[in-house]
Amino acid sequence: MKSIKDKCAVVTGAAIGIGRAIALLLGENGAKVIVSDINEEGAKKTVQDIINAGGTASYIPCDVSKKEQVKELMVQAIATYGPIKMAVNNAGIGGVLSPTHEIKFENWDRMIAINLSGVFYCMKEEISAMLHHGGGNIVNISSLAGLGGVPGGSPYAAAKHGVIGLTRSAAMEYAKLNIRVNAVCPGWTETAILDGIKDGMVATSVERYVPMGRLGRPEEVAETVLWLLSDKSSFTSGHCLTVDGGMKSS
Ligand SMILES: NC(=O)c1ccc[n+]([C@@H]2O[C@H](COP(=O)([O-])OP(=O)(O)OC[C@H]3O[C@@H](n4cnc5c(N)ncnc54)[C@H](O)[C@@H]3O)[C@@H](O)[C@H]2O)c1
Repeated sequence: MKSIKDKCAVVTGAAIGIGRAIALLLGENGAKVIVSDINEEGAKKTVQDIINAGGTASYIPCDVSKKEQVKELMVQAIATYGPIKMAVNNAGIGGVLSPTHEIKFENWDRMIAINLSGVFYCMKEEISAMLHHGGGNIVNISSLAGLGGVPGGSPYAAAKHGVIGLTRSAAMEYAKLNIRVNAVCPGWTETAILDGIKDGMVATSVERYVPMGRLGRPEEVAETVLWLLSDKSSFTSGHCLTVDGGMKSS
């Protein structure tokens, strides 16, 4: 794809799941992909698969909940492939399910550190770099849980609502400075993050609440991200795009 070809793209949480699918698709479309994750083995496999398919990619480790590591990730990304023109803040965890009054403080803190502060740390560094290099394009991976309540998952919902607040605010702040910021809100998507949910709960929920009656595939989320990162969405910023088999329309 012409508008992303040969440009540096950073994808966090790109070892497996949705992040991996995004990294592979960006690589297939000619971007120079920085594959970042705490899972070294998985991330290196993503890199190798991009290279085997004729693309360009490198692994840079980063725990997004550590601001010094995020800063170093962006410095290393620019040193490797030049100005960051695209960034996908995808790394996230599912967390522990429990009613709000029973949530352990450490579980709350971990959720906010990775799923919300991690996105903020990345955006802060990405935007600073993009302002310095004439602009860029950011996609944050939120969730349907960023648009509505999740009984038993209030820390996750709070973090994902926060990601939408960051997305919309930054989109307005930098709209005239050639930086677009959007969010993608996947519904139930077939990845390892669902492994932590009780047996049968996902299947029941899909059957009851997803009009298409199936889980999404990571590749379907990736296509939406590619569109938002490309010039084909040039007048779209501050948008939160659901990819959910019609679930939010009910
Ligand atoms: N799968 C779904 O149903 C679904 C739905 C809505 C939103 N999402 C969101 O999509 C994103 C990707 O999730 P997924 O479903 O692919 O999950 P996944 O568990 O398959 O992948 C998550 C990736 O993030 C990485 N990661 C976790 N903590 C990290 C950290 N501190 N620093 C860097 N990397 C870290 C993991 O190592 C892993 O590679 C998440 O933000 C998740 O909340 C997923």
